[in-house]
Formats: sequence, structure tokens, C-alpha cells
Amino acid sequence: MKNVIPEPDCSAQAGDAPREAMRLSREQLADELRAKLSDLAVVRQDEPLARRTTLRVGGCADFYVEPASEPELTFILHWCRRREVPFVMLGRGSNLLVRDGGIRGLVICLAQPSFSRIEVMGYRVHCGAGAKLKQVATEAKREGVTGLEFLEGIPGTIGGALRMNAGAMGAWTFDIVESIRYMDQEGQAHEVPARDVPVEYRSCPLLKEHIALGAVLKGHPSARDVVEKRMKSFSQKRWDSQPAAPSAGCIFKNPSTIPAGKLIDELGLKGTRVGGAMVSMEHGNFIVNDGSATARDVLELIAIIRARARVQRGIELETEVEIIGEPATGAPQS
Ligand code: EPU
Repeated sequence: MKNVIPEPDCSAQAGDAPREAMRLSREQLADELRAKLSDLAVVRQDEPLARRTTLRVGGCADFYVEPASEPELTFILHWCRRREVPFVMLGRGSNLLVRDGGIRGLVICLAQPSFSRIEVMGYRVHCGAGAKLKQVATEAKREGVTGLEFLEGIPGTIGGALRMNAGAMGAWTFDIVESIRYMDQEGQAHEVPARDVPVEYRSCPLLKEHIALGAVLKGHPSARDVVEKRMKSFSQKRWDSQPAAPSAGCIFKNPSTIPAGKLIDELGLKGTRVGGAMVSMEHGNFIVNDGSATARDVLELIAIIRARARVQRGIELETEVEIIGEPATGAPQS
């Protein structure tokens, strides 16, 4: 399988006259942000998002920003409102399908150290939104805390897992959350017990509206080697049933009547291809990128699968991956 990811040509967007005019003002906007944020913050223009998502497709973000602290995040939210620049949050990009035209506005990623801390205190694990789930599981294991092992195989961050109520191996993120910290659209931070936060299968509506800053997770005491064994068996199960090629994890939510992967398998759709996107041979609910896929390929494949499930089985498949951004110029995309 090829693993060469074509770089989208973001500079081409600035080539024609109207875009050139826009680019100047975008440069001023980026300069303004740089001037207001600390040296630890990251501010970039025309950031290719394919390399920031596990599916490895999609265009560029106008601006990409990593604030260095919560006050900087508050400043950015106020700035976006004042300048009428839309923003989206990005975690590890493992559940995202960015369209080929990229994202107009700002992509904010909480990847800086102040958002990524992991601290084990007793059987509680205090994590920032930017902490990687694998590292959280590893730290818990090191301290002899059980219950968090299922996080090991989810290629995401705490922020993304909270927002999606991500799950694996029969457990959900919110099963182990004691409290969450989030920032509202006005830039105000809040801390709330998890019992006061309504969640659903693969969704936390509060965090679709507001920004996850972190969480306190709660496990139980255990011997380190027992935790290690559980983690290894989960990891084995995953490697046995899921593809290693670039993907966005499960594409569809499981309908109540049948797992989406089983349905797609039964429909004989494994191996179905559009361009560089293919329904995985290992697991029917994964679409893999052979290195040459575009977002348009993936979206067409999703449409084919949904149509077959509807016509042949009367099942309306709902995407689990979040589809964001603009179609490539001149390309109609669903
Ligand atoms: N199956 C098939 N053919 C396939 C795939 C699956 O027959 O191609 C069958 C399996 O044999 C099994 C059933 O379908 O009997 C369910 O499959 P699996 O155990 O792989 O679980 P899943 O429901 O497909 C869920 C989560 C995954 C998570 C796994 C493991 C959803 C949509 N998916 O998959 O989460 O990793 O359980 O716990 O809830 C994700 O959210 O991105 C994701 C990958």
C-alpha cells in the first residue's frame, strides 16, 4: 500500500486576483494574531489538514492556531467574534473528514503542553484536552489504575474523546469521567461533574457547542501486570479486526439492529473502491486511503454504501465521522 500523501496546493488558492486581495487581508489577520499571542503559541496560514487527520485527505485551513494557555484561547474566541472569523476545534483528527476545499477561518488545536498534561492522583487521572488517549492509558497502567485500558487503541485526544463520547471494547469515555472542564463560546471556563452532563452513544451535545479543556477520569486500583494484560488483549483484538492503513476509524454509527461493519460486509461492499478510497477488507465500517484518495472519493464511497443499505435493507446509516469544510472549487460534494 502506498503511503505517499499528496500535499494539497494551498498556494494555488492565492493565485487569482480576488483571492490575492483576500490573501492580503488574511495576512494582516494572521499578523494581528501573532502580535497578540505569546511566542509559545503557533499561528500558521494555509495549513494543510490532510497531514493533521488520520484519513489524510482534505484541503487547507485559512489559519491554524495552537494557543499556549487558557487565557490565549479566550483571547482567540473573542478575536474570532470581533473579526467575524469562524473557527473549528481540531484534536488528533482521527474522526474527521475534511472536504477538499479546506476550511475557511480558523482551526484551533490544543496541542501545546499546558493543555496536554496527564497527572495521576490516587485512582484519578487529571488530563488536559490535548492529552493523547494512548498516553493516558499508559500513565494509568504505570500507576496501577484499571478501567482506562480501552482508551489505548483509540487514536485520539481527551478533547475529541469527550466531545464524541468515543468508545471501544464495550466502554464509553463518559463511563470513566468524573468531571469535565470546558470553555464556553464567551471564553469562560467551567468545571462540572460528569453526572450533570447528558451524553449519548458517540456524542456529548454540550461539547459540540463548547470547548473541552480537560477531564478528571476515575479508575480503580489494580496490579500493574493485570492492567498490562488487559491492554494487550484489547490491542490484539483491534489489530485482528481493524485495518492499519490510514482511516477515520468507524465511518458510520452502529444502527440499533446490526453493527454497521457487519451490514456493509453482508452487502458485499468490502473492497469497493472510488479513486484511492476503499471499503476495508478487514472491517466493513472502515474506509481506507491508499495514499491517493481525495475527500471527494471518500464522500462518494459513503454515498454508495448509504444508498445500498437503504435500498437493500431499509437501513439509514448515519455517519460517525464529522464531515467539515468546503468542497473543492467547482466540485459538488455532499
Ligand atoms: N463484523 C462483521 N464484518 C465486518 C466487521 C464486523 O461481520 O467487516 C461483525 C463482527 O464480527 C462482530 C460485529 O460485526 O460480530 C461487531 O464488530 P466489532 O466487534 O468490530 O465492533 P463494531 O461495532 O464494528 C465498535 C466501535 C469501534 C470499536 C469497536 C471495538 C462503533 C461504530 N464502532 O465497532 O469504534 O473500535 O467496537 O470495540 O461503535 C470508532 O468509533 O471509530 C471505532 C472504530
